[in-house]
Amino acid sequence: MSLDISAEEFQHLAERIARLAADHLLRLDGSPIQPDVTGARLVELLGGEAPQRGCGARVVDLLRGVVEGSRVQNGRFLGYVMGSGEPAGAAADLLASVLNQNLTAWRSAPAGVTVERTVVSWLAEAIGCGAFSGSLTGGGSSANLMGLAMAREARAPANERGGAAGVVYASEQAHMSIGKAVALLGLGRENLRLLSTDASFRMRAGDLEAAIARDRAAGLTPIAVVASAGTVATGAIDPLAAIADIAERERLWLHVDGAYGALAAMVVPEAFQGLARADSISLDAHKWLYQAVDCGCLLFKDRQAAHRTFSHTGDYTRSFTDDPVEGFAFFEESLELSRRFRALRLWTSIHYHGMEAFREALRRDLSHARALGDRVRGEPALELLAPIELSAVCFRHRFPEAADARNMALLAAVNRRGRVYLSNATIRGAFALRACFVNHRTTSADVHAVVEEVLAAAREST
Ligand SMILES: Cc1ncc(COP(=O)(O)O)c(C=O)c1O
Repeated sequence: MSLDISAEEFQHLAERIARLAADHLLRLDGSPIQPDVTGARLVELLGGEAPQRGCGARVVDLLRGVVEGSRVQNGRFLGYVMGSGEPAGAAADLLASVLNQNLTAWRSAPAGVTVERTVVSWLAEAIGCGAFSGSLTGGGSSANLMGLAMAREARAPANERGGAAGVVYASEQAHMSIGKAVALLGLGRENLRLLSTDASFRMRAGDLEAAIARDRAAGLTPIAVVASAGTVATGAIDPLAAIADIAERERLWLHVDGAYGALAAMVVPEAFQGLARADSISLDAHKWLYQAVDCGCLLFKDRQAAHRTFSHTGDYTRSFTDDPVEGFAFFEESLELSRRFRALRLWTSIHYHGMEAFREALRRDLSHARALGDRVRGEPALELLAPIELSAVCFRHRFPEAADARNMALLAAVNRRGRVYLSNATIRGAFALRACFVNHRTTSADVHAVVEEVLAAAREST
């Protein structure tokens, strides 16, 4: 019993899997978004004991069950901040896995490392941060963790003698991954100051200055500020230039969490003034560059700072060349050693479509959000709960009483109907329905469908 399969068998299998994927794409628009399946049914279908004998290419029939139990990402899937999975890039994933390159360093994956360094420089250039380098990550959460690890090592070094105390500042709208990173780095969540925001959910620079002064007066050590370039709830962009002024003056590391929004700097750079003054920036090509998960990225300005944080080279990974290209090692600049060839997906997708097509898709998403905002404002039964800064629209039905509970039930009803998928946010304590346009498939008709479905589900519930 050999694990090897012939090239012909592989081709046959890959063609059947490609057909399954293509059938899924063909049916996207007509399928209900949420699969009509129970947890128990999926366990029955996909769980069970590990088979002791293989079924060969009939595994494709089992994969059909995986497809049927999956959420469908058509143009009306507008939940969370979830990129739409661009298929040309996805097709390249098969090749990436067959090549099985381990992107530890150039010498392990010469082409792979070259491709990753290329796409990282494309991303940096595209958002006006051409002087930055970095690496792809599993997502925004790992990029934020790595950015804050660099901040700690730069301002309160802990790698050798263990954690020193340090205070980190962010707004109350910061993503939960910031609190998680602060906790994991041993800084302590009590040392994360979550500052209240203005009417547009942006950090107030004056409050930041005051908080730093208070902490210094109390004998504490401020080390970093995390600015959001697109908060997860409403897409608010903190005043990056004013925050950069303060960070420079106070010698704080400036990390920008752009996991949701920073890629919009490709089309509305004026909204992100000051971004290039950050020390580190996280962004997610698997969000607003439409790539399949996972494809996050951490950019940083100072490679030496990355080395000081992450370099701990064991003998077996030592590089034997000083050549700046061939001696390059991601593991000196990242928390990962073994790394998958994520970059091939993005590189293929960008070569296939060209950057202008991505800019067009981003512009379309921004205009879809504005159009939904206009529809909500024009509909007496609905109300907008937050300004539309990027592509997230938070709104709700005006129920005369029990508005939170009834909107919560309304969200469940909308998603159950299967035509549109929304998620939720809490806006100043109120339960909001939230549509987030980071989807290259969304059309104007899909935007109308959001309002139609919300009103239809509300009528059904009364
Ligand atoms: C602003 C922001 N930061 C960080 C993250 C975490 O990114 P990931 O899910 O890729 O870990 C998200 C996810 O939605 C986000 O919106």
